[in-house]
Amino acid sequence: MSTGRVQFSSKLGVIAATVGSAVGLGNIWRFPYEAGTHGGGAFLLCYILFVFLIGVPTICAEFTMGRASRVGIPGAFRQGHKSRKWDVVGYFGILAAILILGFYAVVAGWTFEYIIESVLNAFKETTPEVRHEHFESFISGWRAVGWTILFLLVNALVLLGGVQKGIERVSNILMPLLFIILIAFCINSFFMPGFDQGITFLFHPDFSKLTPDVILSALGQAFFSLSLGMGCLITYSSYFSDRTPLVKTAFQIAFLDTLVAILAGVIIFPAVFSFGMSPAEGPTLVFEVLPGIFNLMPGGMVWSTLFFILLSVASLTSLISVSEIVVAFLSDEFKLSRIKATMLLTAFTVVTSTLCSLSFGPLRSLNLFNIFDYVSSNILMTLGGIGVCIFVGWKMRKCDSLEELHNKAGIPIWLYNTIMFIIKYLAPICITIVFIAGLI
Ligand code: PHE
Repeated sequence: MSTGRVQFSSKLGVIAATVGSAVGLGNIWRFPYEAGTHGGGAFLLCYILFVFLIGVPTICAEFTMGRASRVGIPGAFRQGHKSRKWDVVGYFGILAAILILGFYAVVAGWTFEYIIESVLNAFKETTPEVRHEHFESFISGWRAVGWTILFLLVNALVLLGGVQKGIERVSNILMPLLFIILIAFCINSFFMPGFDQGITFLFHPDFSKLTPDVILSALGQAFFSLSLGMGCLITYSSYFSDRTPLVKTAFQIAFLDTLVAILAGVIIFPAVFSFGMSPAEGPTLVFEVLPGIFNLMPGGMVWSTLFFILLSVASLTSLISVSEIVVAFLSDEFKLSRIKATMLLTAFTVVTSTLCSLSFGPLRSLNLFNIFDYVSSNILMTLGGIGVCIFVGWKMRKCDSLEELHNKAGIPIWLYNTIMFIIKYLAPICITIVFIAGLI
């Protein structure tokens, strides 16, 4: 295999980059509104179950593929056999990455606008109606497109720096920053009048709320949040050194990613209840409801600014990881230089994300934003997850998975066997059931 592949230079770098990929809009924007609209505690319980029961073994499967082959997708699907039949699963991943980039960059761009508006104290004394109108008119116009393009340029700058000097270095700085901001918010949240009510909503499972729809959303959310099923973790693990303990790292990512989602809930729900708002606001929760709440708090302008910085940091490290899938693909398969690959991808994404952004305005009838989101998260990532598990469980040579997960990672053989059992049987079956039920 191509042994000269660049690697992350430190343990911290591995964790910061992979957690940076996992922690994103999925945790701070999507998780609270999914939990809010799906009954809080019951959703959280399903979510945690899926993350650790199916998510962790699937992360192990992706890691095994990436490090054993030391290439991104679709190359990793050729590990251990000659045929190119499995390439198609890899190409699904590339397609998913392209679609995710299109809509993710749009929401990421919004965070820049909201940082500026927070600094300018633009939400001061606004009513929910005013904020709603403001949000609607902002996202439907060209200003939003401008922020999206700026975000993509920042993203491109990091990618141009390469694996160590770009991705790793930026993640090493931004991830600690993210955790510091999160902790400051949690402390603040503790002193809010609605703290108890918010915490009860988030942690007290009401099992009557446990419908198939809630279960489906929880699995979809777990996959999206862990960056699973589209080759992202395959690509990143192709940069791991032989000393990186794969199983331990998988647990750490799952733990930290879940922690951030829960902390986001701990921050948002007490605030929502303290100011008499509804947790079931849906996708606009973060952009319409929160700025209003911040304004009622002492030092609201600072909190609001910090919150949107948090959101933009989280989005940037995730966007970088999705982009790296395509950059690695272009350089592995077509031998393009990093500069050319990054420029090509950025130019292409500027076009697709502009179309997505305008689907809130002039291109409303096309509705590309929702189509990109739906096809990538609900169809391609789920199919990709099934593909990865079947590939590692059934197609890859056992000696490869044994070497990566057991020998190099030093985990006991019973744990290896359990993980492989889940990868072979439980995960593909569960994901398939959820997928089919979701389509019906
Ligand atoms: N996990 C990221 C989030 O929670 C999104 C993402 C999906 C990133 C797929 C990479 C790959 O926001």
